[in-house]
Amino acid sequence: MRSKVQYQLFDRSGAPKSFRFLWMFLFVVACFVIYFSLFSPSTKGGFKRNPITYEQVMKDLRNKIDRIINELQQDLVKLELKNGIKNLYRRRPETDHVDCGRILSGDKAYLESVSGKNRIKIVENDQLDMSCAAIMNRILPPGSNLKPLKNGVAFARIVYADYEMLEKQVQMSYHPQNSFCFAIDKKAPPKFHERLRAMAACLPNVLLLPDEESVDSDGHNINSAHYNCMRVLINKPGWNYVILLQNHDLITKSVYELEQVYEWLGGANDVEITPEAGRLDNKFKWDPKSLKMFRNESGINEVVLNGKMKFAKGAVQGSLSRAAVEWMVRTADLTIYIDQWNKGEFGVDEMFIQSLQVSADLGMPGHFTDECLKQGKKTDFVSRMSQWESSDANRCGSKTVRHGICLLGIEDFRTLAAYPNLMFNKMIPSFDYAIVECSAELLHNRTFLGQEDHKLEEDYYTNMINVLYHNNHLDPNFKLECTPSYKEWLARDYPL
Ligand SMILES: *[C@@H]1O[C@H](CO)[C@@H](O)[C@H](O)[C@H]1NC(C)=O
Ligand SMILES: *[C@@H]1O[C@H](CO)[C@@H](O)[C@H](O)[C@H]1NC(C)=O
Repeated sequence: MRSKVQYQLFDRSGAPKSFRFLWMFLFVVACFVIYFSLFSPSTKGGFKRNPITYEQVMKDLRNKIDRIINELQQDLVKLELKNGIKNLYRRRPETDHVDCGRILSGDKAYLESVSGKNRIKIVENDQLDMSCAAIMNRILPPGSNLKPLKNGVAFARIVYADYEMLEKQVQMSYHPQNSFCFAIDKKAPPKFHERLRAMAACLPNVLLLPDEESVDSDGHNINSAHYNCMRVLINKPGWNYVILLQNHDLITKSVYELEQVYEWLGGANDVEITPEAGRLDNKFKWDPKSLKMFRNESGINEVVLNGKMKFAKGAVQGSLSRAAVEWMVRTADLTIYIDQWNKGEFGVDEMFIQSLQVSADLGMPGHFTDECLKQGKKTDFVSRMSQWESSDANRCGSKTVRHGICLLGIEDFRTLAAYPNLMFNKMIPSFDYAIVECSAELLHNRTFLGQEDHKLEEDYYTNMINVLYHNNHLDPNFKLECTPSYKEWLARDYPL
């Protein structure tokens, strides 16, 4: 059962040498024992010996063996401890007893002991030490054993609650080349603001937006917050993709895995594309000229400039290439475009990147096309996994739904480890914190212990429709096939 998952308990390289001495010692002892049993007084033909001396020698030997075994055991514990302090993931007290490895290996009986009515919530720490030393101690990996990245990642996240979980997310994805931008909802409590300010003041690659707006569940001001993050992130070197996030999104790939996946995407943006659902307000004009979308219009084709954009809808979360962000910030000015969407009523944030992505004529780097929408086909993306379940909560791993989406529970751990998605939505620390800690441990193991529990599915990423389109659309012989050759994650078994 457990064989699927490979574990490296600790570095054993130090152990065998001491064991070799033990074996040699035991061999010598065995020779003694054989010698004495052959020539002891009770043995026929043996010579007469003093029985007291014989007993004493044996007792001495046994004591010696015990002592040496004892010492060796202590050394072993020390070795484990030493490696443990360096390499093993430290969980917080409320999840300390959870054996994440056992859940990962599919132990259903054990899973029950930490799910359902045994579910573990976060126990928040009101006294959390927010000195820079303490923050660094919690976030920065012990030692400097992170390998340099060819390309890092930027995280743009809109937040309002659960500081400790957010700090955990920074820790899980921490790399000196990665950047983290936070936009705080104005309504968030002062203590939350304070803590994020302390984190941003402490770590140079954590950025906090100064101008804070109020966001809501209809998506108002979400796009402008992400856009403002892009504007500060573009000044940071080191990353080649930005991933747009919400408060309760859980990153599920390690820094090295993210680097690899984005390399396979090769500059294509990863954005969910579904049909625009009647949210477009036609009392506004939607051509680039009226939107004042291009900072310099002189090089832009008149037909493009005056033509109406194409529209699509999809998840707010997505991944944009650095070139796309550069274009959005420096070639384009999206202020009016974002404002117009923001004037809508419901789900106003779900068209922003999608419509740019399908308006191929605009020339945003890494863009897609509206070709597949015209064929009535949606386009897969991997930046987010969420399980929509409006009617039957029992189909959720955690058997719990909120606003039509399954809440993540520890029951989702195996799915999370196996799926190709970069992030899972959504977990709530006061509902289930074991899923947060176990996924942190999983990423820690993959990053620092070289654990390979699930190999990345290269074929999946490199055969995505947007990736094939990006790599080939300038070739006149290229024919866009809107149905992927692989089984999309949405069609896979859930939960695993
Ligand atoms: C992480 O690695 C440790 C040490 O090998 C192991 O005991 C634990 O089960 C692993 N956890 C996960 C989630 O893979
Ligand atoms: C605007 O674009 C044109 C043509 O691409 C270029 O010649 C001109 O220098 C640009 N103007 C500015 C202010 O960048």
